Amino acid sequence: MCGIVGACGALDFRDYLLNGLRKLEYRGYDSCGLFVTDGSFSLLERSVGVVDNLDKQVPTTFEHTPSVGIAHTRWATHGGVTISNCHPVYSFDRKVILVHNGVIENFVQIREFLAANKISFYGNTDSEIVANLIAYYLSTSAKDMLEAIEMATSKLNGSYSLAIVHLAEPHRLYFAKNLSPLLIGKGQGANYLASDQIPMAEISREFVDLKDGRFGYITKDEIHVYFQGQEEKVKLVERSSENLDVSLNGYPHFMLKEIEETPSCIERLIKNYVFHDEYTFDPKLLKIIERASEIIFLACGTSYHASLIAVDLLRSKGKLASAYIASEFAYHPVVMTKNPLFIIISQSGETADLLKCVPFIQDNAYHLLTITNNRYSSLARKAEYYLNLYSGVEVSVASTKVYQSELALLFMLLDAAFIKGHHFNELREQVKCLEKIIAHKEKFIPVAEEIAKYDNLFFLGRGIDYSTALEGALKMKEVTYINASAVQAGELKHGPIALISNEFPSIAFISEEKTAHQMRNGFQEIKARGGRVFVVSSKSLSLEDDDIIVCDSPLYLSPMSKVMVAQYLTYYTAIKKGLNVDKPRNLAKSVTVE
Ligand code: M6R
Repeated sequence: MCGIVGACGALDFRDYLLNGLRKLEYRGYDSCGLFVTDGSFSLLERSVGVVDNLDKQVPTTFEHTPSVGIAHTRWATHGGVTISNCHPVYSFDRKVILVHNGVIENFVQIREFLAANKISFYGNTDSEIVANLIAYYLSTSAKDMLEAIEMATSKLNGSYSLAIVHLAEPHRLYFAKNLSPLLIGKGQGANYLASDQIPMAEISREFVDLKDGRFGYITKDEIHVYFQGQEEKVKLVERSSENLDVSLNGYPHFMLKEIEETPSCIERLIKNYVFHDEYTFDPKLLKIIERASEIIFLACGTSYHASLIAVDLLRSKGKLASAYIASEFAYHPVVMTKNPLFIIISQSGETADLLKCVPFIQDNAYHLLTITNNRYSSLARKAEYYLNLYSGVEVSVASTKVYQSELALLFMLLDAAFIKGHHFNELREQVKCLEKIIAHKEKFIPVAEEIAKYDNLFFLGRGIDYSTALEGALKMKEVTYINASAVQAGELKHGPIALISNEFPSIAFISEEKTAHQMRNGFQEIKARGGRVFVVSSKSLSLEDDDIIVCDSPLYLSPMSKVMVAQYLTYYTAIKKGLNVDKPRNLAKSVTVE
């Protein structure tokens, strides 16, 4: 789970590589490094921590003008977060230098094979064995780098995108790709490589979206792509017209900016899926949804919580529906009926646990709809039906605006398929409600400052509010490191209440009339044991003393308001605790390893 940038030709390498890495830090930020050369001079710099650390190490001007360069931001999988495990990694003869994103599953066997051939290693990464394998073939049997790369990659099991330099060929940048994303950007006097379009958005108008199994090289003005030994015609695609902006625009953090982009994201979704007051979803897809014997959602983390709301909505319409965590479904698939529809939901579209589920769906010829926020992602490419979330890039590791877009899109899709209504107008009203919450965000600061004093926290809810509690607890855990967990409020007395004390508060959501009274009874039980309850309620169900009151919404849209409150509380709590809000420890934005 890493980010790669590379380029060949005439460009400001320092600027492209370092800023490119900054734009890819969402893919991992344990450590980073870069390599540039013109053949006579080379520079390899690596550093633990964020790109700003590396920036301080890299000279402001290079001794010579480089002709090729590669850089990498890492999220450790094999080997600890140390300089020797940073990329770029180099081969035993120091001639092959590469950056790698992915996981080589058979790296132990390859390492043994290389060790048996007297090749030694300086680090613990699976990537170093790839550099060595290429150098090994080049020094034994391959006629050139291309053949060495083809021979080496044919021995690899697993995922990789590789950008590779050979010191003797400083005017070429080699690459190989399988199951990890890699794009080539066509520029003027230079060509580029990167894990996604964002680092190249300002310099390339056209891209090659590499398919699995491809390898080749770029020069300053040529692109050569090979598949199974044959050169392929290069297919250029226009730069995405989607919003690839990754600047803070005056905000102190991306998380805050992205929470507050939610209304515009939802308006954009409505614009993309509603025309002249009618939904524009593919009628064939709507038929499949309608006729499916059951609807099975697969997702992870925040996206899984969004799918839980859709399951509730479907079940309320009498439709058989379930949601599974992808890492579980991949190994324990459950299909109860003959003609299911699978709906995969993923912000990034690169989540390995989800990719692992796809062969099962395809081998059984089940229908598959994929929803992602990146139409060029691996999951989007594998989709039978695809819907884009159009949320623009989400940089902060904690997903906020995309969760909301997932809810909004699922609401519209199920409205179109089952309810056959025009409830997008309710969604428009919901946007206004969210704008009101944003306008009063200062109210959340004292509550968050209070929460920041505690190490433990329950999120309580019943019915649809339980899904919100799950999402609130996940946000709070990952960004503030508070030990937060969700409890179905009625279950509290069956065990969890044992934890309640004056050091263990709860945040409770109330959106549903039929359980509001029972929720409040439960608060008395908590208070009787010294526990504090922060109450977040819908206006018509609120009491004067509630901590946060939001506008009333239709039940299936109410999670959007409650979750926005949870997002703000998380944000301000993390600020109070002085934490790195956008880059919580041990996490990466897209989880491309199992
Ligand atoms: O890109 P995806 O939606 O597939 O990612 C799934 C989870 O990794 C992700 O939602 C994660 O839980 C977020 N960091 C939550 O904020």
